Amino acid sequence: MKIATILGTRPEIIKMAPIIDEISNRGIDQIILHTGQHYDKEMSDNFFRDLEIPAPDYNIHVGSGTHGKQTGLMMQGIEEVLLEEKPDIVLVQGDTNAVLAGALVCAKLHIAVGHVEAGLRSFDMTMPEEINRMAADVCSTMYFIPTEQSAINLLAEGFSRENLLITGNTVVDACFRHLEIAKKRGFEEESLAELDIENMENILTLTMHRAENVDDKQRVTNIIGALKELRDMNIIFPIHPRTKNTLQNFGLFDELNDLEHVHIVKPIGYLDFLLLTSNSTLILTDSGGLQEEAITLNVPALTLRYNTERPETVTAGGNILVGSDKDVILENARKILSDEEFANAMKNAPNPYGQGDSAKLTVDAIEQYYQDGLLDIKAPEDIMSSFTRKMISIDEDITVKDFEAKEDALVHMVFDGDKMRFPADDLNLNGMMITYDKRE
Ligand code: UD1
Ligand code: UDP
Repeated sequence: MKIATILGTRPEIIKMAPIIDEISNRGIDQIILHTGQHYDKEMSDNFFRDLEIPAPDYNIHVGSGTHGKQTGLMMQGIEEVLLEEKPDIVLVQGDTNAVLAGALVCAKLHIAVGHVEAGLRSFDMTMPEEINRMAADVCSTMYFIPTEQSAINLLAEGFSRENLLITGNTVVDACFRHLEIAKKRGFEEESLAELDIENMENILTLTMHRAENVDDKQRVTNIIGALKELRDMNIIFPIHPRTKNTLQNFGLFDELNDLEHVHIVKPIGYLDFLLLTSNSTLILTDSGGLQEEAITLNVPALTLRYNTERPETVTAGGNILVGSDKDVILENARKILSDEEFANAMKNAPNPYGQGDSAKLTVDAIEQYYQDGLLDIKAPEDIMSSFTRKMISIDEDITVKDFEAKEDALVHMVFDGDKMRFPADDLNLNGMMITYDKRE
């Protein structure tokens, strides 16, 4: 079996690293294809180093550009490599342009796609990431889904439960493994070592790069307004290149950089960043991955967004959406600083993203699919059976799997009272209302 992994940005490198490792450890043939969307050493090479994964076999160097140009160049480059390499499955991760390009190319070439971190939805179609993840899901063969809630999103869009696999999020694997290594090593980045982070109090780690925030002068101004007033915090801000550019263009960079309690540093490596966040009192961010890491590392998070595709972090109690509203940011940040009970409740929020065995579960499933011949994508050779969608209330002890065998059907949605559940094989359906597809 040959597995190809497509990645192109910082979070994709971090979240695919545990899977790349797992594939290597099992001796499976693999190729790594970098789109080159992130190309600065601080946004790419340093992560291959910190996460100890092999350098990419291919880099198609798309660089920065408009969405159309970036996606088009990626599709062209990815197609050339895949025609040459002929992998059995291609893995894409998350919601960047690489995911869109990779999934579309594979679907047309009839190569199986495994979407890692499938099913997330912000329900905000103005986000390029929402389009990317929805399009990728339409083109995928295997869905590696972090949580039950994300799996339910896919069911609600009409996907069959058959290939929806709840595997947790590989960010937990990466966090657990690398935090230990980071603690032993200590800070390497000079700008952080000088700040003596380990002995610093009230650290607020800030990251922001989301287009809807940093490309909007009013929103950035509001956020900076809050930062100015948070003088009792030490704000450490590893700045994304996009954000540095826009702050400079808006004439806001120097004003922020001159504040004594704000330390702007360049983007830092994964080990340094894990040390920084785990020493923080509070994380203020619009990053997707950081919302997950915060709840994994037991650090309260305030998210600079009006919606999130990680709602589990909010319902679990570890994350609060504050938008770009200065007063809401200030009110919540101050509460975390001054109200111990409130801060502890946020820290102790249960982690919805699994136990750190997501990479293992993912590669187990790929091996099983390969053995069962499910990665061969062929045009149908049999007349396809039709089905009728039905609804029924169940009043006996019967699992999803047994119900399906008895009825020659596939369970679709399950309602336990007013709560939707994912129809896992061993779920007892007694007392639940279900919809199912009955084969004719
Ligand atoms: C991309 C992803 C976003 C993800 C983020 C992770 C898409 C649509 N966006 O956003 O989902 O959350 O990566 O960080 O795929 N730049 C550099 N050096 C680099 C890379 C970028 O200077 O190595 C600058 C360029 O000016 C570029 C800008 O950053 O125009 C934005 O980069 P781009 O890759 O288009 O999007 P991100 O904001 O990084
Ligand atoms: N990160 C890092 N160094 C930094 C900032 C972030 O290592 O200076 C890591 C962080 O731990 C997380 C990932 O980058 O795992 C998040 O990437 P980003 O915010 O760029 O993308 P998103 O997750 O929003 O797509």
